[in-house]
Amino acid sequence: MTIHRIIKMGHPTLRQVAQQVKREDIDRADMQVLIADMVETLHDAGGIGLAAPQINQPIQLAIIEVPGGPSRYGHLEPIPLTVFFNPVLTVLDDAEAGYWEGCLSVPGLRGFVFRPQHVRVDYMDTAGNEAALELQGFLATVVQHEFDHLAGRLYVDHIRDMSQLVFEDEWLAQQEPAEAD
Ligand code: NI
Repeated sequence: MTIHRIIKMGHPTLRQVAQQVKREDIDRADMQVLIADMVETLHDAGGIGLAAPQINQPIQLAIIEVPGGPSRYGHLEPIPLTVFFNPVLTVLDDAEAGYWEGCLSVPGLRGFVFRPQHVRVDYMDTAGNEAALELQGFLATVVQHEFDHLAGRLYVDHIRDMSQLVFEDEWLAQQEPAEAD
């Protein structure tokens, strides 16, 4: 397995619409190697989601894995490794909430982004089977962030107030006093 370089904002692949994956291609050995490489790359980077375009593979494939316990996103509801091919997102409730998002392709920055908090995702899983998930709260934000990568979008596109785009080290320095309470 290989840890891939994660491309950064400014690389043109991050602004392309990714290609649909054919069901028969999911079983191919090279596709299964790509998934394993993405998992390894995600673990190495310490993130919770990775889309194939971020390793310069412009196809409709994203993975999400939220470990239990504390992370750089605080305490989160864990979600096991989930592999999404050709995801289609449906907003079930327009009510939005904002989170400080970060992105492995926009290193060192955080931005406050509002997104709908109740969504459904229809996708093909790692075996090529049709699957669906309903997600709420932060996990709804996570999948929207990852699937944006498949449409050539980045979280920075959604920031409404540019004073809310900040360097992560400065942001962390502001968070720590609150966490000590
Ligand atoms: Ni990202």
